[in-house]
Amino acid sequence: MPSNSAPNTISGSTAGKRKILVTSALPYANGSIHIGHLVEYIQTDIWVRFQKMRGHRCHYVCADDTHGTPVMLRAEQEGTTPEALIERVHGEHFQDFSDFAIEFDNYHSTHSDENRELSQDIYRRLDKAGLIAKRTIEQLYDPEKEMFLSDRFIKGGCPKCKAEDQYGDSCEVCGATYSPTDLINPYSALSGATPITRESEHHFFQLAECETFLKEWLNRNGDDAPLQSEAANKMAEWFEAGLRDWDISRDAPYFGFEIPDAPGKFLYVWLDAPIGYMASFKNLCEREGLDFDSYWQPDSDAELYHFIGKDILYFHALFWPATLQYAGYRTPTKICVHGFLTVDGQKMSKSRGTFIMARTYLEHLNPEYLRYYFAAKLSDRVEDIDLNLEDFTARVNSNLVGKYINIASRSAGFISKRFDGQLATTLDDDGATLVTAIQAQSAQIAHLFEARQFSEAMREIMALADQANEYVSDKAPWVMAKQEGQEAALQTVCSAIINAFRVLTIYLKPVLPKLASEVEAFLNIDPLQWQDVNELLTNHTINPYKHLMKRIEQKQINAMIEASAATLQQAPSPARHGEAQQKNSKTEQKKTTKSKNGAGLAVPENGAGSSINDETDNTIQFDDFAKVDLRIARIVKAQHVEGADKLLQLTLDIGETQTRNVFAGIKSAYTPEQLEGKLTVMVANLAPRKMRFGLSEGMVLAAGPGGKELWILEPHEGAQPGMKVK
Ligand code: MSP
Ligand code: ZN
Repeated sequence: MPSNSAPNTISGSTAGKRKILVTSALPYANGSIHIGHLVEYIQTDIWVRFQKMRGHRCHYVCADDTHGTPVMLRAEQEGTTPEALIERVHGEHFQDFSDFAIEFDNYHSTHSDENRELSQDIYRRLDKAGLIAKRTIEQLYDPEKEMFLSDRFIKGGCPKCKAEDQYGDSCEVCGATYSPTDLINPYSALSGATPITRESEHHFFQLAECETFLKEWLNRNGDDAPLQSEAANKMAEWFEAGLRDWDISRDAPYFGFEIPDAPGKFLYVWLDAPIGYMASFKNLCEREGLDFDSYWQPDSDAELYHFIGKDILYFHALFWPATLQYAGYRTPTKICVHGFLTVDGQKMSKSRGTFIMARTYLEHLNPEYLRYYFAAKLSDRVEDIDLNLEDFTARVNSNLVGKYINIASRSAGFISKRFDGQLATTLDDDGATLVTAIQAQSAQIAHLFEARQFSEAMREIMALADQANEYVSDKAPWVMAKQEGQEAALQTVCSAIINAFRVLTIYLKPVLPKLASEVEAFLNIDPLQWQDVNELLTNHTINPYKHLMKRIEQKQINAMIEASAATLQQAPSPARHGEAQQKNSKTEQKKTTKSKNGAGLAVPENGAGSSINDETDNTIQFDDFAKVDLRIARIVKAQHVEGADKLLQLTLDIGETQTRNVFAGIKSAYTPEQLEGKLTVMVANLAPRKMRFGLSEGMVLAAGPGGKELWILEPHEGAQPGMKVK
């Protein structure tokens, strides 16, 4: 896209130009990108695009985080190699990001030569600096799989409350924390074998040695400190609890890099993952002839920004600066921490259909809607952000389309039809006042982008769009168009409106790059840069206006939710590759992470607190069962539903005078013909549910994972419609 490959230069001088290197966290290679991830990548991309538009030399690099046990095991499960698996996922991730207009200057992999060299070299430097200690530890070992088991892969009975099948470090039932060797009848979650205890030598990074440096780093630059206050507070807690040694080695078999001069020992994935930032940049430097050292040497004049989620602060604010410092590199300028995404006020949920994959979203909605919505919600604070689907529709429709796009659509037609696309040579006083007022906000809006206060920026921009719309309403070009002798005035008014629209487009371009490039084509101009704000577009020919953006329709949202519920019920649960790793760090940091309430910045505890009891205490009394009115039903009619991908409409006879109408999500497994005349079981006293297609008066029972594998229940011969199932 021309707007992005635009040279990073302001014509003439290089004065005031910054050298900025930006990263987002490297997504795990064992899962797909979902809308939670996108909070981070969209936020970073907006900031980077803004810097580029300002004329700074800004590079944005990322990579897949490929190493560790989960990738190794998943490849084994799929009957493939880790290398083949990570290559496939790399392609998928890259495509998802590109389709959301997230534009990396390089999207690399941690399983690369650059990363191997850098990681092994950094290990050697840390060793030389005296920071690596070796100690023999006892660990549980799976004799069948022939590998050591991290806590995540050991299960057994809780030593405290005796609940069965608990993980190796904490009990989901009573909340007790313990060591895996305390479990009652422990077993390997991989093979079921009883683990044995084995000794092995591990390498530890002695973090406590770095405390003085870390405290100094944290307090650098006064108001412009490397961490937001919430994150800095969390650091203080960690210092208080005492910094512990970090276990950075893993025994073979392990998918990762070997530790130099230590056969059979591998670098723990979290050591090489952040080095992947450097490796990706190195790869870019080699391709584009950039000077890697000038970005990474201790006295570098470049700025280094890492955007991350609050769950991985520990790694980025403690280990990473320490690693860089003691390996002889520069340290980060800023770690920009964001919160987590909730949907409709709750954690993303598979069963509610709110665990939305990037790909599923793209199949139903324009990616720039989400970019705009996130921008309208994001601030520089470590706060969770909520995607409220109603608010999403409302804001996109009323602000983006209703306010901003509307400005162009109310004026452009007159310019093309009446003036052959020609804009006026000058603006009148009112028009000039409007455009000047919008231009005057440029420094303030730039400041908000720079400070990552995107929601504030969007608010200001929409307030300016309101001013432009007031001008349009006051002048009413559609009235002028019908009056005689108003030709010139009409052209001047519409030209002012187009100019207002152009300046607003500059402000929105970091957020809406695709839309902005369509506007550039419509206005017949070069890619807009920030400094173009103060120019005026006069005496210039624009192209005919084509509608730029549609409103969101409720049915698109419904279809996306329906599709999310369907795909995720079929897919194996996308286990977080991080869980195993975070658990490790967690056991080592138990004391510090237990107080997870505070700013919510701790490494997350396993599992969702609220679902625990639902799952373990699921017996019901007979009375509860008796409340469900299950009846034998005959499917008298089955038919397709127009516009529904998953549903069949069933007419059911349950021995009453009236038949029941039920929409059932079984279209993937049955044709209407296969069902008509058959008997099945229905829940007859379920509260009727109003659906897009009509009222659903109950539900039929079926089993199976979904897709083609769904089977509806059918009674033995002799059962009659209306019989109660009990
Ligand atoms: N691989 C590590 C990062 C290594 S960086 C050297 C990792 N990967 S991840 O795929 O789990 O997450 C990538 C980024 O997305 C993290 O910054 C994480 O915080 C962020 N998010 C993942 N799920 C998220 C939400 N639901 N909401 C907001 N951000 C989320 O961690
Ligand atoms: Zn317990």
